[in-house]
Amino acid sequence: MGKEYKRTLVTCALPYANGPVHIGHLAGVYVPADIYVRYLRMRGNDVLFICGSDEHGVPITISAKKSGCTPQDIVDKYHKIIKESFAGLGINFDIYSRTSSEIHAETSSGFFRKLYDEGKFIEKESEQYYDEEARTFLADRYIVGTCPKCGNEGAYGDQCEKCGSTLSPDELINPKSALSGSQPVKKKTRHWYLPLDRYEPWLKEWILENHKEWRTNVYGQCKSWLDGGLQPRAVSRDLDWGVPVPVEGAEGKVLYVWFDAPIGYISNTKELLPSSWEKWWKSEDTRLVHFIGKDNIVFHCIVFPSMLKAYGGYILPDNVPANEFLNLEGRKISTSRNWAVWLNEYLKDFPGQEDVLRYVLCANAPETKDNDFTWKDFQSRNNSELVAILGNFVNRAVVLTHKYFDGRVPANTRPEPVDSEILGQIPALKKSVEENIENYKFREALKEAMNIARLGNKYLTDTEPWKVAKTDMDRTASILNVSLQICADLAVVFEPFLPFSAERLRKILNVGIDAGLDHRSGEEGTCGENIFGPGECAALHTGHPDTASSPILTWEDLGREDILPQGHRLGEAVLLFSKIEDSTVEAQVNRLEETRLANEAAAKAEEAMKAAPQKPECTFDDFSKMDIRTATVLEAERVPKTDKLLKLTIDTGIDRRTIVSGIAGYYTPEQMLGRQICILANLQPRKIRGIESKGMILMAKQPDGKMRFITPAEVLANGSEVG
Ligand code: 2FM
Ligand code: ZN
Repeated sequence: MGKEYKRTLVTCALPYANGPVHIGHLAGVYVPADIYVRYLRMRGNDVLFICGSDEHGVPITISAKKSGCTPQDIVDKYHKIIKESFAGLGINFDIYSRTSSEIHAETSSGFFRKLYDEGKFIEKESEQYYDEEARTFLADRYIVGTCPKCGNEGAYGDQCEKCGSTLSPDELINPKSALSGSQPVKKKTRHWYLPLDRYEPWLKEWILENHKEWRTNVYGQCKSWLDGGLQPRAVSRDLDWGVPVPVEGAEGKVLYVWFDAPIGYISNTKELLPSSWEKWWKSEDTRLVHFIGKDNIVFHCIVFPSMLKAYGGYILPDNVPANEFLNLEGRKISTSRNWAVWLNEYLKDFPGQEDVLRYVLCANAPETKDNDFTWKDFQSRNNSELVAILGNFVNRAVVLTHKYFDGRVPANTRPEPVDSEILGQIPALKKSVEENIENYKFREALKEAMNIARLGNKYLTDTEPWKVAKTDMDRTASILNVSLQICADLAVVFEPFLPFSAERLRKILNVGIDAGLDHRSGEEGTCGENIFGPGECAALHTGHPDTASSPILTWEDLGREDILPQGHRLGEAVLLFSKIEDSTVEAQVNRLEETRLANEAAAKAEEAMKAAPQKPECTFDDFSKMDIRTATVLEAERVPKTDKLLKLTIDTGIDRRTIVSGIAGYYTPEQMLGRQICILANLQPRKIRGIESKGMILMAKQPDGKMRFITPAEVLANGSEVG
């Protein structure tokens, strides 16, 4: 792990309280962070695990406008959903607070003020788009126009969601305000900027020289930013939702969300530990690790460290293990298109199967490249790995012990070389799990943990105690003793990865665990909602052995050959995992398919909705030349050898005439019979397929491209003039 530290502060990107958390967030940030924290605690480290909701920023104000409520309503709703769903997946932060809190406003505002007072910002006037109707400056997201790269007419001032280009509002063609639809004007405004260019030499040394061990994707992104040259970054915005800029004359301005959000890590620590938070943030003995997704790299490796450096006295991250993205069934996860698996929905749809999701997301984590989540893979990893290997092994060992030895760990009196061959492999696997976790390689670590289960499963299959039991009870006892020791190893090694199953397994084995929650040095703290003192909370997180003499396992026990003493009574044998049926995953795939079709239809409708541009002006005289009137269809038939034409006989109120119309693709002759329609009666007659057509039926083109005739809302006299 490189440098020796006394404690570790782990932060997870604060999710926007603008929607629930999905599998992309989980695989990228929260599952790996939780594994890391659980592991470090089991190893006796003093760890603090911090997160909370990011409740500012323009998208939240847009959501509020769309839903006709306040931004506070939006964040209240999603903060609760997100907080509860994290807990439901066993991700137990020491604190999950929010950036709309009082303490956060104080902390971030104080942070800004100190930098301001010390002259660490530059102040600049610039021209920004302003909506004169709504009387407000427009954030980039509030400006829409045509993308200069792909022609998409609905591109935002910061990004075109069609072609993915990053844009600035000035690049948009024909920009419009998303608030009022009016054309915005340029108006002068003052803002504060953090001069990142001043920190560039220091950043180069700190990252490029001193953190060569960072993941390639993280190091590479930093290098490319630094090589490209850093520019001053605005840290304030003209907006009415956020932390007000604490400077006289800055009314209507708030801190930029990316300025206040990372300070949220500090304010949340302060909220949890009002008198000892500084030890976590200002002592060189603390290892700080930020778990984030790749889109947050620049903020956590360049901007936030520069802010901390400018402020002085704070530690900097030792590592920022950012993951790449997880796709879903081959497509990019998208909140706005509902192309996601939402954690709160998963927990409802798969009760008791929290660990299956944790397992699949870790086994397939996008650590070095983007990866894909598919429901088929989810099913197959559950059925052929969790059920068939881990669950099957434990179940066989425990059921056989109940059957032959009354549920007590039998004596290992007849060992054979194969036993030590198997048990001898475990210390190396343990070491590999440790090294991989400590180097943020969670996929590999999980694979090695699973290899311990594979070993056990193979050992049972090879030694066949159910057969040996017919002739040699002593040897059967030894085989089951060895198998149960491996089960105990699994109860330890899977605690960071699959905490729910590890706890079930400990119940089956009737053992407890030291999950390390009493190693915290804090004299104060909370666990979920409960205030605890040192050691008090550990009981909530251990197994619950039924006798005082049952072993309490520690990480260090992993690999010992006598974890479970002879005669130890096991708990009841229950299945750790259950098979996931085809119908279950098909239901999920079908839901996604419906979403895909709905998205496609919406995109088409949107495309078609773009009303045709207005035609050049005409005079009233031009208009009054047209004789538009109501008429009724008396007869209708297809014009032979054509797909599109209907021959209609109509009563115009002044005569009975024939009109040939190209509507056969939209209406059958039967559908036209008896319909009242509008016609242009005085259109010059012309021959179509040899039939003289006198006039034209008025039709309207619909968003889906289909033509519909225009019919009066009530039956009118034929020949009524329209105008
Ligand atoms: O990308 C995001 O979801 C941001 N809300 C992450 C913020 S991380 C930190 F800076 F708070
Ligand atoms: Zn575009």
